[in-house]
Amino acid sequence: MSDDQRFFDFLKQRIGLDVASVGPAIIERAVRQRCTALHMTDSDHYWQRLLSSHDEQQALIESVIVPETWFFRYPESFATLGRLARKRLAEVGTRRILRILSLPCSTGEEPYSIAMALFDAGFAGHQFKVEALDVSPLSVERAQAAVYGKNSFRGEQTDFRERYFSAVNDGYQLAERVREQVSFHVGNLLDPALVVNHVPYDFVFCRNLLIYFDLKTQQQALDVLKRLTRDDGVLFIGPAEGSLLARLGMRSICAPQSFAFSHSHEPLPAARPALAEFKPLTRPLPPTSPPAIRPFAPRPQTAAPAPQKPRPATAGASALLEQIATLANEGKSSDARQACEQFLQVHGPQAQVFYWLGLLSDVEAQTAQAQSFYRKALYLEPQHSEALVHLAALLASQGDAAGAQRLQERAARHERSVHSERKQ
Ligand SMILES: C[S@@+](CC[C@H](N)C(=O)[O-])C[C@H]1O[C@@H](n2cnc3c(N)ncnc32)[C@H](O)[C@@H]1O
Repeated sequence: MSDDQRFFDFLKQRIGLDVASVGPAIIERAVRQRCTALHMTDSDHYWQRLLSSHDEQQALIESVIVPETWFFRYPESFATLGRLARKRLAEVGTRRILRILSLPCSTGEEPYSIAMALFDAGFAGHQFKVEALDVSPLSVERAQAAVYGKNSFRGEQTDFRERYFSAVNDGYQLAERVREQVSFHVGNLLDPALVVNHVPYDFVFCRNLLIYFDLKTQQQALDVLKRLTRDDGVLFIGPAEGSLLARLGMRSICAPQSFAFSHSHEPLPAARPALAEFKPLTRPLPPTSPPAIRPFAPRPQTAAPAPQKPRPATAGASALLEQIATLANEGKSSDARQACEQFLQVHGPQAQVFYWLGLLSDVEAQTAQAQSFYRKALYLEPQHSEALVHLAALLASQGDAAGAQRLQERAARHERSVHSERKQ
């Protein structure tokens, strides 16, 4: 056992963090930082301190967690929540309030977005309550202070800032009426007491945590999340986490870009997210000139393929891609396939089109064909996140857990590098 393995095992056991998902360097650096802070040079001494001190355990956890979050992350999911919550309110009337859980809540942007979305949907404060949990006491403290810098306001829609915040010296202070809706607590998703202490919720948000777990821990966590979601409730997860839910007997509610799942009361044939979850990426499309990369060439054994360089979009290509998405989302599979073929003939190879062909084959249970299309998409664009996620789900459903995990890790690494690029 290497010196570091005990720290990896400790973090996995305490918060589920899988060293493969973040890479050993992050954990090793955190341990070094803690040793420096305590003026220790010997990792054995630090290990002894860690075992004997609850505060030190918490300090190490704080130094490895990824608190990355912002207001109205995946905006469509909040619009979907507003719609579903109104419907639910009409059903329950004044008999009870709606209860929503945000776990992990990080520094509060997610649970506060939920509260703002419900106000925007016409709710009054006495009609709902949001409970928010995170394993990091520091993040929970920041959430309770509710003062945010510009990093918390990303994306195009920031009009809510004018409506719900006021400028203060060090950022923006959230309005009291939103803060009152959310109660924060320190909590661990892997704590067995969680399901005992919490009555199931109408809506549960658990986004961008499962990607840091290995498959076994993901299954354990999803089992808890299922139990925390009312029988008629909805669970919102992160975009890279959908395939797991389908495998655990939950079904997509087919709200585009919302990554929302309900309990399934019927056996599910496939383990993959529904087609209607997805819409085309707005990434640049190739021009109509001859393709730079031949998609069907065998993949070189030694060198990784060069990623596609962003090139200017053409109106025709964009329109056709939109059309493919519409046809696919409407369930018109054969028309969608024809449009894909047409795209490839006219515009040349394109990762997004191979991804769509993969998804169409996947939905029709043509798994070998789906796998081949996803691989073509990844050959052209190695970090195509949807192709990574769907191919991972497909491999997992065929029992190739190791292959699935590798792809999930690749997708997670890509998501993290996109985030850190955005931060710079
Ligand atoms: C990337 S943030 C996600 C925040 C928010 N859900 C979102 O999607 O924007 C991940 C959070 O998970 C928390 N976390 C890590 N392990 C946890 C666990 N076992 N239980 C609860 N929270 C955990 C971290 O403290 C961090 O704040």
